[in-house]
Amino acid sequence: MNRRYRKTLIAANWKMNRLPGDCRDFIASLREYAAGARWCDMILCVPYTHLPAAIKAAKGVKVAIGAQNCHGEAAGAYTGEVSCRMLADLGVKYVIVGHSERRAMCGETDEQVNKKLLAALSCGLRPILCVGEPLNVREAGAELDYVRVQLKMALKGVDERSLRHVVIAYEPIWAIGTGRVATPEQADRVGETIRETLRSVYGARAARGVSILYGGSVSPENAQQLFSMPDVDGGLIGGASLDADSLKAIADAANQ
Ligand code: 13P
Repeated sequence: MNRRYRKTLIAANWKMNRLPGDCRDFIASLREYAAGARWCDMILCVPYTHLPAAIKAAKGVKVAIGAQNCHGEAAGAYTGEVSCRMLADLGVKYVIVGHSERRAMCGETDEQVNKKLLAALSCGLRPILCVGEPLNVREAGAELDYVRVQLKMALKGVDERSLRHVVIAYEPIWAIGTGRVATPEQADRVGETIRETLRSVYGARAARGVSILYGGSVSPENAQQLFSMPDVDGGLIGGASLDADSLKAIADAANQ
């Protein structure tokens, strides 16, 4: 991380877990910690159904609430979908776009991810854009090119001013939920490539202001080493974020 230029972020992704009623106690148990966490901001991304309860519980708590998905259109006949305007109206601040689970299970394309990201920005939400390669791409040594393409496709039409509101999460698919975490060097190499790609499009000043997170089997045991790398500005945490103590222990590593 490099605090001179950008925020260190700890973002929890609850995925499809817990119930709305669990938000109150969970967020209450973060209250004191978050207030004292000078060096990192905390974000909790919950399922749609949990959002009202999470937002209510987070009033006066230094934890921003995020959604895990959104639709790319502003409104219309899209049964079962939720627009960014609806999320913003609730008080949601962040939205995850392009998570690999959605790309794989819901067939989300780079074009759709781009639309969602633009929709989020236009409603004042901060997108957390996920990129990351599958195992076969990593084994072929092609991960940097793969991520560059995902990044450029997702950011099409985003200008320099809007880039400030974008958070990027590098999540290698082989590390998600597997316990097989990327090494700090692997995470940093891709983080560095993401920043170089941003620099080539937006210039050095804009690129150095973007927080680039790492996600994939982050735990209290490995967080500190990961966050010590210059282009790892925090984490997007799945499994380990379901327990408030383990989330706090990970945030500790970012808050030193
Ligand atoms: P895990 O931390 O469970 O590996 O999940 C990472 C992730 O996908 C966060 O979005």
